[in-house]
Amino acid sequence: MANNRENFGSRFTAVMAMAGSAIGLGNIWRFPYMVGQNGGAAFIIIYLLAALFLSLPIFMAESIIGKASHKSTFGAMETLAPGTKWKWLGLITVASPLIIMSYYSVVGGWSIEFLFKSLAFKFNSPDVTSYFGNFISSTWGPLICHTLFLASCAIIVLCGVTKGIEKFSKITTPLLFVLIVVIMAYSCTLPGAKAGITYLLKPDFSKIDAQAVSMAVGQSFFSLSLGVGTILTYASYIKKEENLLATGLGTSAFDLLFAIIAGFAIMPAVFAAGIEPGAGPGLIFETLPYIFGKMGVHTPVLSGLIAILFFVTILFAALTSAISMYETGVAYLIEQKNFSRRNAVLVIFAGCWAVGILCSLSFGPLAGVKVLGENIFGLLDKFASNILMPLGGILFTVFVGWKMPKPQVRSEISTVIYYLIKYVAPLGILAIMITQFIG
Ligand code: PHE
Repeated sequence: MANNRENFGSRFTAVMAMAGSAIGLGNIWRFPYMVGQNGGAAFIIIYLLAALFLSLPIFMAESIIGKASHKSTFGAMETLAPGTKWKWLGLITVASPLIIMSYYSVVGGWSIEFLFKSLAFKFNSPDVTSYFGNFISSTWGPLICHTLFLASCAIIVLCGVTKGIEKFSKITTPLLFVLIVVIMAYSCTLPGAKAGITYLLKPDFSKIDAQAVSMAVGQSFFSLSLGVGTILTYASYIKKEENLLATGLGTSAFDLLFAIIAGFAIMPAVFAAGIEPGAGPGLIFETLPYIFGKMGVHTPVLSGLIAILFFVTILFAALTSAISMYETGVAYLIEQKNFSRRNAVLVIFAGCWAVGILCSLSFGPLAGVKVLGENIFGLLDKFASNILMPLGGILFTVFVGWKMPKPQVRSEISTVIYYLIKYVAPLGILAIMITQFIG
């Protein structure tokens, strides 16, 4: 079976695929609103520390497991620790990316709708703010978009690792950088943008409390696709002779860079339009169309074009991430259950589509269904980001630091990273999880 496995062709394409997984809604949708809510530059500093001391070690741990086993999550555990309870980690991490995929695909669907709206130059009037709320609470529109988004992922994953995922990511990921830089240039030159730039550069530590720290850490995991086996699965497609540290550092650097540029693409526009930066999750869908509308009064064509570029960026960033979650489930079904790629793609489609329907309707007809004060969408997001990802992160680092043979691990990484994996990351994440639960 292992012989039939496809591989990423080069280091460049491996990094593009991994960075494609990392760069997604997390960078463009979540990061800017979290920065806006938690003290601008101060939050970014905590985020950078979390990326270095906690996320990078998890990233390396997952990569080491993937490369050492050349298997999907479950198969990796069965290969490296046969017949042990570690197989549960393998199983959980088959399920967790699919849980994320189900609600992620709903937001991906929203970006399709907003792209169509921007193509029709519909954002050129300032009264577009209510559009987002009306749209997501309706029944059919979001469901159709969710289906379209998931179907697009299915087609890419169906084409395989080399001809689908690798080919798509190696074109899309660099393109995303070009697009976001263009948007940043537009945003930073708007009249009044300076306040937004200052906001991103001047730390306000009074906003930093335990909750802000745990948000920064959670965001860093989400952004680097950690703890749910997607990086492990992608790393299993890396060639044996490849240097893992280079891929890990390359991917993390691209992901960080993209998040920061996205911050500079969004915040200056937000300030230029005189909008509250802490607007929350609706920031890019609610506030930005308004900004495009407001700016569009004097330059309708330019702002209309920027709106199109902006939603193209969100859609493609979401696609390159979603296919990595999709592939994690597909790889498991092909390898462990002898499914053909086509059947695996169909089964995952059916599961994520069904759960995604519930998530989509949880903003409309099912809005009244609340568990622990959250709607279905919020519940899955909290469960994945606050429990599955950190837990997976701890277990992957413990596995590599304490269970795998030391020489095998040490041949891939430097001493500093080894100790980060063995002690700093698991203990640090555990401490943050505990604070989160008591707080
Ligand atoms: N990293 C992706 C983003 O920032 C989300 C993701 C999470 C992708 C988990 C894969 C696995 O949008």
